[in-house]
Amino acid sequence: MRHPLVMGNWKLNGSRQMVNQLIADLRQELSSVDGCDVAIAPPFVYLDLAKHTLSGSRILLGAQNADINLSGAFTGETSANMLKDVGTKYVIIGHSERRTYHKESDELIAEKFAVLKEAGLIPVLCIGETETENEAGQTEAVCARQLDAVLKTMGAAAFEDSVIAYEPVWAIGTGKSATPAQAQAVHKFIRGHIAKHNADVAAKVIIQYGGSVNAGNAAELFSQPDIDGALVGGASLKADAFAEIVKAAAKAKK
Ligand code: PGA
Repeated sequence: MRHPLVMGNWKLNGSRQMVNQLIADLRQELSSVDGCDVAIAPPFVYLDLAKHTLSGSRILLGAQNADINLSGAFTGETSANMLKDVGTKYVIIGHSERRTYHKESDELIAEKFAVLKEAGLIPVLCIGETETENEAGQTEAVCARQLDAVLKTMGAAAFEDSVIAYEPVWAIGTGKSATPAQAQAVHKFIRGHIAKHNADVAAKVIIQYGGSVNAGNAAELFSQPDIDGALVGGASLKADAFAEIVKAAAKAKK
């Protein structure tokens, strides 16, 4: 039985005041909820403060990116070891915003995946097709290509204790979520693709859905057998909405 994971991706949002307030509110909203792992991924500069503010709660810490280098002359970068040092457990890699705005390739993202595993962190590998690719019927081919970059270099075993987030790019921040049936079909494909290499790992890997998840659509998405939680952007900035999503996951996967 897979334990669901709901993770908030704060993107480029936050302040010290917001970290303190949002975490205080989340701790209260989620104090009696179990059956779902919960994590938040604030911007790098607030990780340390967030870790401190989360102290004693079961909410875990995630980061939104990591460099492939561990130290040295790489101005502006943050290493996996630094993220580990401040108490991060999960690291989002391959988010479509990084693929698009920072031109990150499948190969670079696979390298990041390897570095995170080596550091003992849990990669949250984002994959998903654009609207054009979706309309051209290329959804499965795109997801397979993005997974293959990791499979080719590390094998299916790399997905043990790792997380995949299926995020159709057309659903991110648009308010236009994939339907539960649409998402389930792709999640099933993703699990099947990994199962071709290792059925045991495929059965265990957490596959989150991401893209306009909110308090209203979460329960239906989580009712699907291969949807193991969510990567939440906009709705993770509001404690009550995020808590509703977590509660929906805990309830659906009981
Ligand atoms: P959204 O973002 O929930 O605001 O659509 C999801 C994501 O980008 O991870």
